[in-house]
Amino acid sequence: MPLYKRITPNQHSFVYIWKIDESLDELLNKIQLKPESQERVDGMKSIQHQRGFLSVRMLLAAAGYSDFDLFYDEEGKPHLKDGKHISITHSFSYSGIIVSDENVGIDIEMQREKIEIIAHKFLKYEFEYTSEADYVRMLTVIWGAKEAIYKMFPPRGLSFKDHIKVIPFKIGDQAGRAWAHFEEVAQKYQLEWLEFDGYTCVYSSEEGL
Ligand SMILES: CC(C)(COP(=O)(O)OP(=O)(O)OC[C@H]1O[C@@H](n2cnc3c(N)ncnc32)[C@H](O)[C@@H]1OP(=O)(O)O)[C@@H](O)C(=O)NCCC(=O)NCCS
Repeated sequence: MPLYKRITPNQHSFVYIWKIDESLDELLNKIQLKPESQERVDGMKSIQHQRGFLSVRMLLAAAGYSDFDLFYDEEGKPHLKDGKHISITHSFSYSGIIVSDENVGIDIEMQREKIEIIAHKFLKYEFEYTSEADYVRMLTVIWGAKEAIYKMFPPRGLSFKDHIKVIPFKIGDQAGRAWAHFEEVAQKYQLEWLEFDGYTCVYSSEEGL
């Protein structure tokens, strides 16, 4: 499957989403990897993870980049050599990237009922406005928002539950806000999300996209 979606939140940011239909061999035949990336792929325990990783390289190609333009810092955060910001996500059948002139984050999650069981681990403030209506979809947006924000600025010790608050929203809003308060950091985030095929994709920025 080629590119599933291309979104341009503004003139200096874009989001690309891939539907991973290809086999591992098909992906390997289409992509040239740096030796360290090949080593990572070889060390992955699941084919699903390998396909997710490789499909991100298909997204990079769609965006005019290659594996050689990407590097990771010691925390595992990805960066582009041209100085643009990038964030990466993969979940089962989909992967996504956001590239921007600003600091940005992205997360794709499958909408699953079991998220209700772990809600208490990442929600506190948000219990005030979440209810049975659209509960799994709401929780998945909140979880995705917190993962996306974490990827933008992952200070050690940041707690999803205590330090990030997603401001009340309705599932159909497709946009919202969040705050992170942690030690000396107080930062406001702009959120946008979309739902497709049982998945939720959330992307975030500091300044508003
Ligand atoms: C690192 C983390 C954000 C990855 O998220 P995930 O939903 O498991 O997986 P995703 O596929 O969405 O994201 C993986 C990508 O995140 C990126 N990533 C990894 N570490 C990162 C970091 N420190 N900062 C930014 N991005 C990071 C990588 O690009 C990675 O993919 P790649 O290595 O194939 O390029 C997540 O595992 C994590 O540590 N979350 C915070 C933990 C936490 O506090 N949880 C609270 C639970 S209550």
